[in-house]
Amino acid sequence: MTQTADLKIHQFESHSGKETIAVGHRIAELLTPPKFLILRGDLGAGKTTLVKGIAEALQAADPDEVTSPTFTLIHEYEGTRTVNGQKEPVMLYHLDLYRIQNERQLDSLGLDELIGPASIVLVEWGEKFPSVLKRSQGEIEMRTTGGDSRSITLALRD
Ligand SMILES: Nc1ncnc2c1ncn2[C@@H]1O[C@H](COP(=O)(O)OP(=O)(O)O)[C@@H](O)[C@H]1O
Ligand SMILES: [Mg+2]
Repeated sequence: MTQTADLKIHQFESHSGKETIAVGHRIAELLTPPKFLILRGDLGAGKTTLVKGIAEALQAADPDEVTSPTFTLIHEYEGTRTVNGQKEPVMLYHLDLYRIQNERQLDSLGLDELIGPASIVLVEWGEKFPSVLKRSQGEIEMRTTGGDSRSITLALRD
C-alpha cells in the first residue's frame, strides 16, 4: 500500500480471470461501506470479472450470476460482510454508464438513492460525467499488461 496525504493506493497483479476473481476477494475486504467508486478500464480489461470476485466475497452472488450491466445499467446484489464476528448486510451496485448520454439521463437513474450507509457502488464509465467523478471516493483501475496479465489499482480517498 502506498499512502499520500489523503489517498491510499493498493496495487494488485493478475494473470488470469481466476486470479482477478481472487483479487476481487481481497478488494472486497478493503471496502468499508458506504463506498462509491469508479471502475475504470478498457473493454475486456476484466472489470466485470473483478465484480464477480467482489460479489462472491460479499456472499452477494455466485460469479456466474454476475454479468455486465451494459443494457440494464444497474445490477443490484444483496450480501453480507463479517465485521468483528458479526454479519452485517451490504448492498452491492454495479453500474455501467456507457449508454448514458447526458446529465438528464443520469438524473433519471437516481444515483443518489443508491448511496445508503451499507452500500458499495461500482460505476463503469463514471469518468464520463464530472458530477459522478466529484461524488466518487476513489477508483479501481484495470490495465492490460500483455496477454492475460492485468494490473489492478485501488485508490481510495480518506
Ligand atoms: N487476468 C484477467 N482478468 C480478467 N479477465 C481476464 C484475464 N485474462 C483474461 N481475461 C478474460 O478477459 C475477459 C474480460 O471480460 P470482462 O470481465 O467482461 O471485461 P470488462 O468488464 O472490463 O469489459 C474475459 O473473457 C476473461 O476471461
Ligand atoms: Mg464489463
